[in-house]
Amino acid sequence: MEDSPVKLTKRGSVAILQIDRESRRNALSRETLLAFGRLGRECVADNDVRAIVITGAGDKAFCAGADLKERQGMTPDDVRVQVGLYRSELSVLDHSPKPVIAAINGVAFGGGLELALVCDLRVASSTAELALPETTLGIIPGAGGTQRLPRIVGEARAKEMILLGRKLTAQQALEWGLVNRVAPEGADLLEDVLNWILPIANGAPIAQSAALRAIDTSFDTTLDLGLELERVFYDETLRSSDRLEALRAFAEKRKPVFTGK
Ligand code: COA
Repeated sequence: MEDSPVKLTKRGSVAILQIDRESRRNALSRETLLAFGRLGRECVADNDVRAIVITGAGDKAFCAGADLKERQGMTPDDVRVQVGLYRSELSVLDHSPKPVIAAINGVAFGGGLELALVCDLRVASSTAELALPETTLGIIPGAGGTQRLPRIVGEARAKEMILLGRKLTAQQALEWGLVNRVAPEGADLLEDVLNWILPIANGAPIAQSAALRAIDTSFDTTLDLGLELERVFYDETLRSSDRLEALRAFAEKRKPVFTGK
């Protein structure tokens, strides 16, 4: 059996999922998608994990998209099944109650950018490039790109990227709001990301999760219903001992120590 194409390591309360297929520029094969599903479920179920970082091996590619070598010779039905795997296997990360962060260490093309779009936050290395070139290959983004990209960068910019196959540099992606941050030139991206997300790693998990779900809900609802749902999510935090710990810490002029309870 092939070694897992995705490696799980932990740094404190942060789980790191690294695509380990550098020789194929971390392209998404069937096994890679299945590994994301399996390891994603493991991370979400692990009470010690407060955030999940997704990255790729090496410094050239975060992920070059679908494994085009594997796809050669696939029938349309095979491709349909494969495209279905993006939805079924990445959905645990998409709906993760813990923040998921993409550390984009190089090119993120096609399904690779779509994987990053599933994440809640995106940090790019200064040399990263981002694109959805599918229409230049006679297909369209099939792993959520046509739906998630316009929600993040707006309709006009999403159409520009998808119809022109436009490639963005990390800096342009930052200007368009497609990534939250670009790591300083020459910096170790993973260390930069781990440092940047310290407020999450050391934060109050019940509040983090409630905030994530409240924000995600806002895209699927009216403002009135969204405000009602916000009240329900707020209520979850009222029942947590972490809320009381934050109040105690404030009174005692110290940093709170959150336990996730
Ligand atoms: N699927 C499978 N293998 C891939 C791949 C993919 N999506 N992308 C790259 N590879 C393989 C190459 O075939 C090559 O293998 P080889 O050494 O057996 O020839 C190896 O990875 C290195 O690729 P190379 O092009 O030499 O590396 P690079 O660093 O110069 O460029 C990319 C990397 C990702 C920019 C370039 O390979 C590329 O544009 N790939 C296609 C990406 C794409 O169109 N994805 C969207 C699919 S919808």
